[in-house]
Parts: sequence; C-alpha cells; structure tokens
Amino acid sequence: MPKIAIVIGSTRPGRAGESVAHWVYDIATRRTDAEFALVDIADFNLPMLDEPVPPSMGQYSQPHTKAWADTVASFDGYVFVTPEYNHGPPGALKNALDFVFGEWNNKAAGFVGYGAAGGVRAVEQLRLVASALHVAHVRNQVELSLFTDFEDMTVCKPHPRNEESLNGMLDQLVPWSVAMKALREGTKEQRWERTA
Ligand SMILES: Cc1cc2nc3c(=O)[nH]c(=O)nc-3n(C[C@H](O)[C@H](O)[C@H](O)COP(=O)(O)O)c2cc1C
Repeated sequence: MPKIAIVIGSTRPGRAGESVAHWVYDIATRRTDAEFALVDIADFNLPMLDEPVPPSMGQYSQPHTKAWADTVASFDGYVFVTPEYNHGPPGALKNALDFVFGEWNNKAAGFVGYGAAGGVRAVEQLRLVASALHVAHVRNQVELSLFTDFEDMTVCKPHPRNEESLNGMLDQLVPWSVAMKALREGTKEQRWERTA
C-alpha cells in the first residue's frame, strides 16, 4: 500500500490549516487502499533555506534539512493542504518544498485548498512548483470556501459535497502514488537532475 502524507501547509499560530488537515485525515483513513499520516511543516522549524549547495545536488548539511528530507523520502505521495496568501501559497510551504529535491522526485500529489475562492490560485501556483520537482499532480482538487465550509472562518466544517470531492481526488492520487513507486524502482540508477 502506498504511504501518503497529508502536509499542513500553514504554520502561523491560530491557523485554520490544522483543522482542514484533520478533516482530510479523518476521511482518508477510512480508506483501505493507502496509509495516511499527518505531516506538519511547523514541527520541523525550517528556517528560510540555509543550505549552501542547491538541494538538487542532494548534499544536505543541516540537521533540520536531513530530518525534513527523511520525512519527505518516507512517503509515496502527498496531499498538500494549502491556504491562499495574497493569491499564492504560504511562503512556509514554498520554502519547505524548496528545501529538498530528490526526495520529491517521481512522487504523486493532490491538493486541498481553502480561502475566499477555495484556494484555487494558491493551488495553481503550487502545481507549477510540483512540476519542477518531478511531482505528478492529479487534476481533481478540493476547494474549501472560508464562507461556507468553516465555522468562524477558522474551524473546518465542510459542506458534505466536499467529502465526495476529497475522495474523488484520492481516487486519482492513490493509483498514481502506486504507479510512481513502480517508476522509481525501475529507474533507481537514473539521476533526476535539475536542468534549468
Ligand atoms: C498573509 C495572508 C494573506 C491572505 N491572502 C488571501 C488571499 O489572497 N486570498 C484568500 O482567499 N484568502 C487570503 N487570506 C485569508 C486566508 O485564506 C485565511 O486567513 C486562512 O484561514 C489562512 O489559512 P491559515 O489559517 O491556515 O493560515 C490571507 C490570509 C493571510 C494571513
């Protein structure tokens, strides 16, 4: 069974992200086709990228980078739970994505966005970043509205149709996570280099 991380993309005190991620986790763990775990970027205390060598070279020097790399490497797929900050993803999530490279390569991902417009602009930007990391991202995504899917705009209480939407996304992500694992096993010797 593939192992899929539910990555909490916001780190600020009082964030709604934790509540969204728990909603995702509760639904995902009813499935029997994958194992799911919550991964909180905040637990890693990542500073702004402080590696002297570009992460695509795989020469990590800092303990926090190694801990983050080990966690990223241990999963076959990811659900990125992201709010929208100024029409993009939070800097903390972009920083966490930039911190390592090879550990993301040839994995699969899906997105759960939230915001005034369902976090769609943040997710669109994340799709560009995921492509650069050799992450295969599925089409379906969850778009939670701050106005209708939250209590007091902080506690995630989504309209029931979102459960169907989440499972639709996971129905795509789980088989892609399996397929990418097979690809990784077949290309162990190949280096996935950043070319531009
Ligand atoms: C710095 C900042 C910028 C924001 N910009 C947007 C935005 O462009 N679009 C939007 O829909 N919501 C925006 N919001 C509202 C967030 O979607 C909302 O506060 C959400 O709860 C943030 O997620 P978090 O609580 O997990 O940090 C912004 C919030 C913050 C803190």
